[in-house]
This record gives sequence, structure tokens and C-alpha cells, in this order.
Amino acid sequence: MATEFVKSMKYDKDWIRLNMMGPNPIQLLELLSNKMDLRQGMRVLDLGCGMALTSIFLAMEFNVETWATDLWIPASANYKRIIEAGLDGKVHPIHAEAHDLPYADEFFDAVVSIDAYHYFGTDPGYMDGYCARLLKPGGQIGVVVPGVSYEIGAGLSPEGLEEFWDKDFDTFHTADWWESLWKKSNMIETEVCEKMPLGKKIWQESEWRQGEHGSDNDKRMLMADKNDALAMIMLTGRRKCKTGGLIETSE
Ligand SMILES: C[S@@+](CC[C@H](N)C(=O)[O-])C[C@H]1O[C@@H](n2cnc3c(N)ncnc32)[C@H](O)[C@@H]1O
Repeated sequence: MATEFVKSMKYDKDWIRLNMMGPNPIQLLELLSNKMDLRQGMRVLDLGCGMALTSIFLAMEFNVETWATDLWIPASANYKRIIEAGLDGKVHPIHAEAHDLPYADEFFDAVVSIDAYHYFGTDPGYMDGYCARLLKPGGQIGVVVPGVSYEIGAGLSPEGLEEFWDKDFDTFHTADWWESLWKKSNMIETEVCEKMPLGKKIWQESEWRQGEHGSDNDKRMLMADKNDALAMIMLTGRRKCKTGGLIETSE
């Protein structure tokens, strides 16, 4: 897989392993960023950034300014990591809930969210009510979430995975499901919506790399997933301009 991860390869494996909170977020973000147009000086909201690895990666690789925003991880803990990375003033640690974000409308050029959007973004009102309005017209959104290859149904579990399935996994959906959800938005035009070809491999390798920090349930579930029910889903889109078309991006 190495050739796909020219940027991710530069980062210390232990730094990633000890701070990632799920499938390797740096590798997932590198694949996502290939489908986005991130440029120097942009303001990027990293929504559900966890330990801020992805916010640091974005600032380092694209020379953007990032707002590392998360609920479970205190801003002070992320600030330490940001200083250690030499990015004080370039990556801003913010403690906030996704429905109560302390940002001005149209402030950001892009929103990214790795392995977090499914916690708050499955409600049809979320995109336009809380997220898209923070983007400038023409601004981009890129999301990677864990999901499934075929719809499972609330309260049900994929065949063979019954013993591992948690009710929290009811937020795991197919690429088609996410595409229909985003179609309901009046503000976002979806550009990419796909099951990531390398997604499950990244997830599997990450669980093993995490060792005792990983979840035993997830490891056993991934091993038992003979029907490839589990997947990683990637979505990108742009905020429509006010007339309904898309804003041209310029150099
Ligand atoms: C599985 S972790 C992933 C963290 C990080 N993106 C990564 O990949 O390592 C999910 C993250 O989503 C964040 N999150 C969940 N619900 C949230 C909410 N309602 N508002 C803001 N962040 C939320 C959590 O704080 C957590 O850090």
C-alpha cells in the first residue's frame, strides 16, 4: 500500500499508533485529500479531530490553518501535541460539540471529518443546520466514516457478526445511503461518494498496529467479517453558491 501513502509515510508510526482513535486517520485523510482541492492559506475545520493528528497533518502537508475541534478530547491535550509539532498559531485546539460550534457562518474554506461524522451527521437536518453554513460558498467538505457494503437495518446485524455488533453500529451505512442523505441538503452538492477500495485494509492494519490500545471487539469482528460487510465510506462535496450553481475556484 506504500505508494498510495507518500505523505503519511513521513509521520512517526508510534505517534500515529498511540494517538489514533480508530482506523489510521492520517492514511484515510491522505486518500480523502487526493479528492479535494486544499491550498495554502485555506481555513479548514477538522470536525471530530480526536487527538488532532489530522489537523496537524493538514497544516504540515497543505500549509492550511486548521481548527482542531473535538468533544471527547480536551483542547489542552491537543494544544500540547500542536506545540510539539511546532504548529502553535497554525492549528487551533477547540473543545466543542458538533451541534454547538463556535464559528461564524461562511468562515471556512473546507471542513474535513475523519471517523467522526457518523456520530452526529446521520440526521437529515445536520448538514444544512450545523455544518454547511460554516462553509464559504464554493467551500469543500470531505468526510470518511466507517460503514457497510450493504444496508443492515436498525437493530439487525450482518450475518456472522452478531456477537460483535453493537447498537452504536446502527450509524454504519452504505455509500448509497450517505449519498441519498446528502442529496437532501439544499446547500451541498455531492462530488464523490464511494466505498474506499483500501478502506477495510487500512482499518484491519490499524487494529493490529494499535496492539493493546486497539479494541478486541473490533479486531475479532474484522476477522469474522467473511462477507465483507464492513467498509470505509468517503464523501466529498461543495457548498452551492447562492444562485444554486457552484462557485468556480481560482488560483
Ligand atoms: C473514533 S474517534 C475519531 C477521532 C479522530 N478523527 C481519529 O480518527 O483518530 C471519534 C471522534 O468524534 C468526536 N465526536 C463524537 N461525537 C461528537 C460530537 N457530538 N461533537 C464533536 N465531536 C464528536 C469524538 O470526540 C471523537 O474524538
